[in-house]
Amino acid sequence: MVDAESFVEEAVAEIREEVGDAHAVIGLSGGVDSSVAAELAYRALGENLTAVYVDTGLMRKGETEEVRETFSHMSSLRIVEAEDRFFDALEGVVDPEEKREIIGREFIREFEREAKEADADYLVQGTIYPDRIESEGGIKSHHNVGGLPDVVDFEGIVEPVRDLYKDEVREVARELGLESVVAERMPFPGPGLAVRVVGEVTKEKVAVARDACHVVEEELEEYDPWQALAAVVGKGTGVKGDNRVHGWIVAVRSVESRDGMTARAQELDWETLQRIQSRITGANENVARVVYDVTHKPPATIEYE
Ligand code: XMP
Repeated sequence: MVDAESFVEEAVAEIREEVGDAHAVIGLSGGVDSSVAAELAYRALGENLTAVYVDTGLMRKGETEEVRETFSHMSSLRIVEAEDRFFDALEGVVDPEEKREIIGREFIREFEREAKEADADYLVQGTIYPDRIESEGGIKSHHNVGGLPDVVDFEGIVEPVRDLYKDEVREVARELGLESVVAERMPFPGPGLAVRVVGEVTKEKVAVARDACHVVEEELEEYDPWQALAAVVGKGTGVKGDNRVHGWIVAVRSVESRDGMTARAQELDWETLQRIQSRITGANENVARVVYDVTHKPPATIEYE
């Protein structure tokens, strides 16, 4: 296990030596890895570090506010409100892979613009040891490692946590006073809530998925799932008062897994399922029904797209 205190000291000194008086940029995702890398780089470079967080409009409930709060001490934090640009680019697109491509492309565009504006020579990344192994072995096809340096011409790439495992990064985060990002959060896909709405990505569907995901994460905490989520999967008929209405169908999914490659649907008790159902339908009158997904992976995937 890493000695967090001396790690911080050494990492800060190393970044200072590598970057010198130049300017660096980092993409913040709200996750623990990029948060730790950003804090280390900030301690080394101060104002010469620009931290960029792109609000795609596809993030978890409260995520942007959390980032703003956690890094409020960084004067050069840039929160890019790009929601409308992402939704415009996704308009009418229903193919899952095309959605992923558009989101990746838009993200790079936003980040590139910020990096140029900041006149950054160096890119800081929160790559950790398992990321490197996985990308070298080609295991995770949709991993983001290595995506950014190709498009922006940087003088150098700095990866301060490249030799650490996840639990070590968490320890360093505590040492840095970043308690708020340390919590064991479930994996969240890069394209965010876009893969939790089947078909076209609209603000209405994403808002339903966001609120429902929040309910599911809260209600299923005690089951300690590897991943629990909710997705908007289509429309169906329901009744409101004396009227038949055409509302959203929300699917709830909770799985156990070791690495996401295979997964087992979790067995939940009826009361928990009913509580989830009533919270989701109660919060949004346009949700007509809630279903629970009992499919393992394979044959299903974990996300809906
Ligand atoms: P699937 O749905 O393929 O998901 O069974 C396996 C794991 O990968 C995550 N996932 C993604 N992560 N970009 C990501 O960074 C993606 O496009 C993507 N698609 C799925 C998913 O949340 C699960 O943890």
